[in-house]
Amino acid sequence: MSQRYQRFRSSLHEYGNSASFHGLRFVTDPLANKPRRLIWLCLLTACLAVLVYQIVDRVTHFYSYPVTVNVKVNYNTTLQFPAVTICNQNAFKATLSATLSRYRLIEEMYTEPETFNQDRLREFSAENISLADLYLESAHRKEDFIFRSVWKGHPVADSDIHELVTDHGVCYTFKNTGLDGFVTSPGVENGLRLTLNIEQYEYMPGPHDAAGIKMLLHDRDEIPRVHALGQAIPPGAHVFVGVKIVEVTNLPLPHGSCLDKTLEYSDVYTTEACQLDCLTRRAGQICGCRSLFMPQKNGYPPICTLDAFYGCLQNVLESFPAESADLCDCPVPCYFRLYETDISYASTSAYTLNKLLGEDDKNNLTEKLLRASEVTSRYELNKFSKIQKLNDRLKRNMNELREKVTVNLKETVSSAIVAVNDRYQDIEEHYNWKEYLYRYQAYIMEKNFMRPRDAYEERTFHIVALGYAEYIMKIESRIRRLANGNIVDASSRQVLFDDTLDLLSSRRKIVETALVNFTTLIEAYDTGIQIFNYKFFSTPRSHNIPAAPKPLIKESRVHNSYAKKYGKRFGTYLNRTINILNFCQSVVDEAFYNKTLDEGNMTECRETFRFLMRNWVFARSVFYFETIDWPLKQIEERLKNFDILWNELKQFMRIST
Ligand SMILES: *[C@@H]1O[C@H](CO)[C@@H](O)[C@H](O)[C@H]1NC(C)=O
Ligand SMILES: *[C@@H]1O[C@H](CO)[C@@H](O)[C@H](O)[C@H]1NC(C)=O
Ligand SMILES: *[C@@H]1O[C@H](CO)[C@@H](O)[C@H](O)[C@H]1NC(C)=O
Ligand SMILES: *[C@@H]1O[C@H](CO)[C@@H](O)[C@H](O)[C@H]1NC(C)=O
Ligand SMILES: *[C@@H]1O[C@H](CO)[C@@H](O)[C@H](O)[C@H]1NC(C)=O
Ligand SMILES: *[C@@H]1O[C@H](CO)[C@@H](O)[C@H](O)[C@H]1NC(C)=O
Ligand SMILES: *[C@@H]1O[C@H](CO)[C@@H](O)[C@H](O)[C@H]1NC(C)=O
Repeated sequence: MSQRYQRFRSSLHEYGNSASFHGLRFVTDPLANKPRRLIWLCLLTACLAVLVYQIVDRVTHFYSYPVTVNVKVNYNTTLQFPAVTICNQNAFKATLSATLSRYRLIEEMYTEPETFNQDRLREFSAENISLADLYLESAHRKEDFIFRSVWKGHPVADSDIHELVTDHGVCYTFKNTGLDGFVTSPGVENGLRLTLNIEQYEYMPGPHDAAGIKMLLHDRDEIPRVHALGQAIPPGAHVFVGVKIVEVTNLPLPHGSCLDKTLEYSDVYTTEACQLDCLTRRAGQICGCRSLFMPQKNGYPPICTLDAFYGCLQNVLESFPAESADLCDCPVPCYFRLYETDISYASTSAYTLNKLLGEDDKNNLTEKLLRASEVTSRYELNKFSKIQKLNDRLKRNMNELREKVTVNLKETVSSAIVAVNDRYQDIEEHYNWKEYLYRYQAYIMEKNFMRPRDAYEERTFHIVALGYAEYIMKIESRIRRLANGNIVDASSRQVLFDDTLDLLSSRRKIVETALVNFTTLIEAYDTGIQIFNYKFFSTPRSHNIPAAPKPLIKESRVHNSYAKKYGKRFGTYLNRTINILNFCQSVVDEAFYNKTLDEGNMTECRETFRFLMRNWVFARSVFYFETIDWPLKQIEERLKNFDILWNELKQFMRIST
C-alpha cells in the first residue's frame, strides 16, 4: 500500500515538474512544506475557476449573435412634405422697374458691374434706396408668377405660400404646416402641382442671366440657399420632381464631431444657417447693415442701402467665401434631413397650354405681354436707338419714294390712260372697219361667187346627172329595139331613132353647158374675180373686186388634196361624158342603119356613162364643199374669233377704266 502510494507520489511529482501548467510544480513538490503547498493549491484552483468562467461567458456571448453595426430599413408610410422654394431667375420685372424709374439704374448695375460704383449711384440719386425696396418692389408678384397651384387636388391656400428673400432674390416658399402636410402615397395627384408663369416678357438685366426658375426642396425650418443649392428648370418644361428623404443622425462627441450650436440669428441649427449667421455677424460688424437675404434679430442689423452695399457690403460678400473657414466654426448638425430630388422633364404641349389658359387669362396675359414688350423694347437702349435710326431712315426714304412714285405714277398712269384710250379708239375704229370688211367679204362670197354656183346648179348642173341610171337604160332598150329588127314599119323606126338621138343630144348639150358654166366658175375661183356683181348696202359696186378676199378664194382651190383633185375631176368627168355620149350615138347609128349591135360597144356605152355620172356627182359635192363654200366658212370663222377677242378687249377696257 505504502509502496504503491510512494510510486504515485513520485510520478505526481514528476508530472508536476514537467507539465507546462504553471505553478503545479509547487503543489506537487514533496520537499516543500504543507502550508505553502496548500496556498499554491488554493491559488491554482481559483485561477482555474476564473478561466472556466470566462470560457463559458465567451461561448454564451458568441451564441447570442451580437452585432456592432445596426442597419434598419424603416418603411414610413406618412412622410412630411418638404418646403418647396421657387425663384424666378429674373430678379426684376421690367414694367415695375420702369414705373419706379429704376430700369436704367438696374440695367447699369448688372450689365457693367465692374465700373458701377457709388459715384454712378449718386448720378442716379439712388444711394438711399434700400436693398429691400430695390428687390421687393420690383420682384415678380406671387399672383402673376404662380399661375396655378394645386395641393392634393385642391387649390393651395394663399397662406401656405410665403414670400421669402433668399440669396437668389425674392422667392416663394410652399409650406403646408397643417395636418394635411403629409403625404401617404407617391404620384403627382398626391403632391404639389405648380403652373408657373415666368413672365419672360418682363425679363430685364439682373443678377442672373438664365431664364426659367430655380427650385429647392428643403426642411421647413431651414433657411433655403437657393442660389447655391437650387436646381435650375428651363422655361416651357413640364417637370416631374421625385423626392427621397434622407434622415441623418450623427453621434456627438466623443464618438463623432456633431454639435448643435446655438446661433445668434436662427433658432434651428444647420450648417447653412450657421454660415449665414456667421456672414450676418460679419456684415453687421463691418458695415453695420446686412443684405436682404440675411437673418436678423429684433431688426438688427438693418438692411443696407445701395450706397452701403457698394461702399462696404459688396466687399464683405466677395471676400467671405475665402475667409469663412477661418471665421466660422460650423460643425455638422447632429440631426438633419436631406431631400434628394429626382427630376425628369417633358415639354409642355400646346394643347395643355390652351387648356391651361382660359379665354380670360389669355386676354389678360396678352395685355400684360404687350405692355411688357413695349417697356422692354423702349428701354433696350441699343436696340431702341438702332431701330429708331432705322425707322427715321425708312420714313425719310419712304417719303422720297412716295413723292417720286406718286409723281411718276400719276404721270405714267395718266399718259397710259390717254394712250390706252387713243389706242382703244384706234382699235375700235379698226374693229368697226374690220368687221365691216368681214361682212362685206362674206357678202361678196355669198352673192358674187356662190350665187352663180346656185344658178348653174339650178339650171344645168342638177340636170347633168338627173336620173342617169334610167336614162341610160332607156337609151339601151331603144338601141336594142332598133337593132333586133322587130319593128318592121320604117317610119316608126325612124321616129324611134330620131327620138333616141334627141335624147342623147339634149343631154350632151346640157353637159356641154355645164362644162362651160363650170369653166366660168372655176376661173372665177382661180382668179378671185367675181361672176355676179351685187351691191353691198351703199358700197359702190366698183369696190367689189378690190374688196374680195382674193388670196382666200384662190387658196380654196388648192388648200387641200380634195379641193385640188375633185376640182379637176368635175370638169374631166363632164368632158368624158360628152365623149361617151358621142360614142353611144355611134352605137345608135349602127343599130339603126346596120341593124347590128356589138354587145361590147353597148356595155362600154352604158357602164362608162354610169361610172362617169356616179363619180361626177361625188366630185361635185366635194368640189362644192371644199372650194365653193370654203372661203365663206373661213370668213365666218375669222369674224367669230375676232368678235370673241373684241368682246374680251371691250370687257377688259370696261374693267380697267
Ligand atoms: C414617419 O415620418 C414622420 C416624419 O416624417 C415621423 O414623425 C414618424 O414618426 C415616422 N414614422 C415611423 C413609423 O417611422
Ligand atoms: C440720402 O440720405 C442722406 C442722409 O440722410 C441725405 O443727405 C441725402 O440727401 C439723401 N440723398 C437722396 C438722394 O435722397
Ligand atoms: C382679367 O382682368 C380683369 C380686369 O383687368 C379682371 O377683372 C379679371 O378677373 C381678370 N381675369 C383673370 C382670369 O385673371
Ligand atoms: C352657162 O353657159 C351657157 C353657155 O355659154 C350660157 O349661155 C349660160 O348663160 C350659162 N348659164 C348661166 C346661168 O350663166
Ligand atoms: C375636154 O377634152 C378635150 C379633148 O379631149 C380638151 O381639148 C378640152 O380641153 C377638155 N375640156 C375640159 C374642160 O377638160
Ligand atoms: C363596135 O365594135 C366593133 C368590134 O368590137 C368595132 O370594130 C367598131 O368600131 C365598134 N363600133 C363603134 C361605133 O365604135
Ligand atoms: C354598116 O355596114 C357596112 C358594111 O357592112 C359598113 O360599111 C358601114 O360602115 C356600116 N354602117 C355603120 C353605121 O356602122
